[in-house]
Amino acid sequence: MEKLEQLYEGKAKRVFKTSEPEKYWIEYKDDATAFNGEKKARIAGKGTLNNEISAIFLSLLREKGVDNHFIKKISATEQIVQQVKIIPIEVVVRNIAAGSLAKRLGWEEGKELPKMIVEFYYKNDELGDPMINNDHIDILELAAEQELVEIRKQALKINEILKEFLQNKNIILVDFKLEFGKTPAGTIILADEISPDTCRFWDADTMKKLDKDRFRRDLGSVEEAYQEILRRIGGSVNV
Ligand code: C5P
Repeated sequence: MEKLEQLYEGKAKRVFKTSEPEKYWIEYKDDATAFNGEKKARIAGKGTLNNEISAIFLSLLREKGVDNHFIKKISATEQIVQQVKIIPIEVVVRNIAAGSLAKRLGWEEGKELPKMIVEFYYKNDELGDPMINNDHIDILELAAEQELVEIRKQALKINEILKEFLQNKNIILVDFKLEFGKTPAGTIILADEISPDTCRFWDADTMKKLDKDRFRRDLGSVEEAYQEILRRIGGSVNV
């Protein structure tokens, strides 16, 4: 398979066409951004770590019946995925209050939620990814009502699978962001990445943050935290 022209460059990844139909080539970058791109840095080894971590999570989800775009890892920083058209909705799932939710509602970070919360954000850099609800999604024609029901159902299932898997690794899954895409055949599947860039992971004993909040909040040891996640979920840390 050959890597062809670049289709898209995001904050943390590049996406290329390939010589094979319906297959994209993704390259994970070391670049880190936060607060809608206002804070930028390079974190050595992040691309390698997230490529491996995401491959592990997406393979686990596939095994458990959650169809997703991951096909195979082809190098330290690259993977081949199924071609999809990303639905411009960021689906955030929360088990514990943190980040923007804690801020918005004045809740203490770490407050356990009596039930999972699902939020939708409009994936639009110019607007700063505003929170939206089903009515906005309908008017913006981002997804049909039935598709949204399906997305929510998949998000719940993904949360159950990841929460249980991580609990066994002594990691609390605080919250995470998902993106879904449509295949050329019209099926909605999970896409993008699942990594410490897109999830909040806390050590279950010490509550130490093992995710991108270390970068957002200048807590230091960002790479070490990502390595720790990879080690605990069974990957090999040789970056
Ligand atoms: O900032 P906030 O608390 O809303 O983030 C919720 C979750 O979604 C966090 O795990 C964060 O890493 C993730 N997220 C993301 N990309 C965004 C916004 C949030 O991965 N653009």
